Amino acid sequence: PSMSEILTLHDFEAIARQIMNEKAWAYYSSAADDEITIRENHAAYHRIWFRPRILKNVTHVDWSTKILGLPSSMPIYITATALGKLGHPDGELNLTRAAAKHGIIQMIPTLASCSFDEIVDAAAPGQNQFLQLYVNKEREITKKFVQHAEKRGIKGLFITVDAPQLGRREKDMRQKFEAEEPDEMERNNEKVDRSQGAARAISSFIDPGLCWEDMAWFKSITKMPLILKGVQCWEDALQAYDEGLAGVVLSNHGGRQLDFARSGIEVLVEVVAKLEEKRGLRFPNDKFALFVDGGVRRATDVIKAVALGATAVGIGRPFLYAFSTYGQEGVEKALQILHDEFEMNMRLLGAPTLKDVVRDMVDASSVHQH
Ligand code: FNR
Repeated sequence: PSMSEILTLHDFEAIARQIMNEKAWAYYSSAADDEITIRENHAAYHRIWFRPRILKNVTHVDWSTKILGLPSSMPIYITATALGKLGHPDGELNLTRAAAKHGIIQMIPTLASCSFDEIVDAAAPGQNQFLQLYVNKEREITKKFVQHAEKRGIKGLFITVDAPQLGRREKDMRQKFEAEEPDEMERNNEKVDRSQGAARAISSFIDPGLCWEDMAWFKSITKMPLILKGVQCWEDALQAYDEGLAGVVLSNHGGRQLDFARSGIEVLVEVVAKLEEKRGLRFPNDKFALFVDGGVRRATDVIKAVALGATAVGIGRPFLYAFSTYGQEGVEKALQILHDEFEMNMRLLGAPTLKDVVRDMVDASSVHQH
């Protein structure tokens, strides 16, 4: 179908399911076990309702913001998703180029199909990028990678902490993984078991021994802001704050890790309440950033997260489906759809800027509080 028929981010998924090859579809769309959490991720947003304001002069509306001090045209970023070339020959570069056009930050995955340097080289002058890090059992490899990333101008290090072992994504495991190009693992001269899907093939180097004590080491090897990706309760968010980290991503890895993990938006409600209560913080703030990802498909989802205290929200699969179907143009279209949705919804909410998107603008009373 022609791209002009695409009206929402959901449409990319429907088309991707029809036209993507089976292996790529299985890897991108799969989630852990019975896939309860992946369904909950989007469904959780359906329990939050708006309390719009009227007569606010919304002739001009502005939803631009700053993420870790960096300008962003919207309170979203492109989160890290591995193996971009499964969906399109240009892989992650589709995301880099579309992000540049729309003033959006891209988080580069450790397990990108394109090399890290290729993705950084593809960035436009002044374009900001983050790095998602899987920590290697060989800490020297990780240290080199992190320090190289800092030298290349990466603005934030997102350490994935929800994947000491990869979840069982059974749809993916039924496929045999045959990468056309050597992936990151093979570049590191590690053996790859290709018999159980893409995820299993690429993940055996990840260190399950990673722990809180390693945070001091990270601080000693880099000046980049450190953010933990995959926090799922207030206790860990509080510890990250107390350890002096720059923020956390409240995420369950798109439902691909622990099934029955809660949605990021639900966790956000408890994290904001507890950190405000225990440390006298107000969210959002410049000192400690709360990010959320998982199931975000509409500007209204993003606005709900911002109202509840998030700095910005990560979006994964919709961009994968967009470039798997229409390449870079698909990603640009997805960002344009979000742009148009922001404009309309900010007006309808009576919120001229994101500062006006306050907590009273949502009714989150159906979200369980701990
Ligand atoms: C991911 N995600 C992910 N996260 C991470 O820290 N390292 C990684 O390598 C990957 N790889 C990956 C591959 C694919 C195909 C998907 C779908 C996801 C998780 C990702 O960063 C994010 O948490 C979720 O994708 C967010 O959910 P949505 O937007 O996909 O619903």
